[in-house]
Amino acid sequence: MDYGLKNRMSRMIRPSTGRSVMLACDHGYFMGPTRKLENPRKTIEPLVPYADVVSVTRGVLRSSVDPEWDIPILLRVSGGTSILQEDLSNEGLTTSMKEAVRLNASAVSISIFVGAPNEKQTLLNLGKLVDEGEEYGMPVMAITAVGKELEKRDDRYLSLACRIAAEIGAHMVKTYYCEGFSRVVDGCPVPLVVAGGPKLNTEADVFQLVFKALQEGAVGVDMGRNIWQNDNPVAMIKAVSAIVHEGATQKEALDLFNETKGKIEALTSARPRRTAQRPR
Ligand code: 5RP
Repeated sequence: MDYGLKNRMSRMIRPSTGRSVMLACDHGYFMGPTRKLENPRKTIEPLVPYADVVSVTRGVLRSSVDPEWDIPILLRVSGGTSILQEDLSNEGLTTSMKEAVRLNASAVSISIFVGAPNEKQTLLNLGKLVDEGEEYGMPVMAITAVGKELEKRDDRYLSLACRIAAEIGAHMVKTYYCEGFSRVVDGCPVPLVVAGGPKLNTEADVFQLVFKALQEGAVGVDMGRNIWQNDNPVAMIKAVSAIVHEGATQKEALDLFNETKGKIEALTSARPRRTAQRPR
């Protein structure tokens, strides 16, 4: 791996812990104004100080992420299908590698749809993106998307999809947590992060998912709705970060969440706009 790629990877995965809390805010590219992400800046700004990375499209980056914020960007570059389609797999590349470099992205992300009608097209998109990523020193994250078929998320399917992503050359893979997740990790020779998926019933469920994923070998999360659709998103990301970077248990995370909710949201809303600095 050359310097540029290594340097960018070190912005995606925190070298001091080998782990990462990525904040996923790229849902609008096919879902439109998703609940609680209707105004992206309002959602993203209070969470930036507690995230290692923010995942967005170029439109949200330009309109809603202050260039002076100290936060690496995971740029979503695949798309082309909306939630109105039954089959979401008909994706192409929506943003060029040159544009990703111009926007100073630290990595790019692309969905692959293994087993879906457009499987081949999405896998070839990944191959092309990896070729360009190697040329420009830009890490590529493959996302093992399942479209509307959430029931696909089992260890057999996810092992297959993650391994295919790594074989085509993805530098990182985002997938889902599942029963038998360690088998998914074992079969995937590049770092894995987990998405949260649709909002779970309780905070404890979220912390359990994150804790187990980390225990079984994920290097972190790229999580959205279970953070920003919560009524206390800052307390939520702080608790998730405690599991990821400080080795907190699910119980410790829940205690931290309960201690800080309310208080921390009030403090954050008082924060001046241009000081979205990450605490270290
Ligand atoms: C949207 C995505 C999301 O980034 C991914 O699903 C993570 O977000 P969430 O935790 O809300 O599932 O890829 O297409």
